[in-house]
Amino acid sequence: MLMNIDPPEAPALALPPVSIEAAAVAYGGRCVLEDIDLRIAPGERVAVIGPSGAGKTTLFRLIAGLVKPAAGRALTLGEDTRRLRGRRLARLRRELGFLHQQDNLIPQLRVVHNVLMGRLGHWSLARALLSLLWPQQIERARAALARVELADKLWALPDALSGGQQQRVAVARLIVQQPRLVLADEPVSALDLRLGREIIGLLCALARRDGATLVVNLHTLDLLQGHFERVVALRAGRVFWQGAPEQITQPLLRELYGAEYRALHLDEIEVPA
Ligand SMILES: Nc1ncnc2c1ncn2[C@@H]1O[C@H](COP(=O)(O)OP(=O)(O)O)[C@@H](O)[C@H]1O
Ligand SMILES: [Mg+2]
Repeated sequence: MLMNIDPPEAPALALPPVSIEAAAVAYGGRCVLEDIDLRIAPGERVAVIGPSGAGKTTLFRLIAGLVKPAAGRALTLGEDTRRLRGRRLARLRRELGFLHQQDNLIPQLRVVHNVLMGRLGHWSLARALLSLLWPQQIERARAALARVELADKLWALPDALSGGQQQRVAVARLIVQQPRLVLADEPVSALDLRLGREIIGLLCALARRDGATLVVNLHTLDLLQGHFERVVALRAGRVFWQGAPEQITQPLLRELYGAEYRALHLDEIEVPA
């Protein structure tokens, strides 16, 4: 059926998924991001780190078009985020995937429906409504849940799942959405290290398989090695440092995190002294 064919890849594919030029963001006149230049290449996996209040979440909101730059420009998947409306906004919503710290699922909806929410941007309104009565593309949901080892939870309600399982359902939703850019803002902060490692591993495998670009805000710096090609460190609203995970050193972390350095036990992280 013609309706089911995914739209052809937009020519924007060659454009950087994220291109921020000399951007600033202000809340009520107070500048919280300043002079941000950031280009992220297609398929790149980038971790954003920095102390609380540095502007990490605001950077994600800027990329998503949820806040507009007060100065400079933010292009996401080739679109100027100040000019997003109509079809362009719909396309961005479809091609941009989100994962938050928690509360990713709609508690009233069974797991199958929560996973298929990832298809909403691809479906007509009629099909989306029909899916609430009888889930469309159940096999797709089942296959995605199998990839996160939750195939048996298709009909469960989110409340019946542990925090780690709920986060895996949210990853299954990303799997069916097939976004070109995934923004994950502290996706594992509510989980223990083992579960966090598992979710980050899943996200990176998903990005690798689909050629998607991944931007993750991480507090657990143990998870940087082996997963991310680049680390962007923010401090006080500016890009303080960028480099490969292997280039991070203890003095860098001490300077970046300041008063939080000890509280976060960063002195215990295995990086060069
Ligand atoms: N909606 C908002 N209104 C006013 N100030 C905000 C808002 N969101 C964040 N801020 C402020 O902007 C700064 C950066 O916040 P945020 O981007 O959430 O930092 P991070 O995610 O690195 O902890 C902080 O000082 C915060 O208090
Ligand atoms: Mg934040």
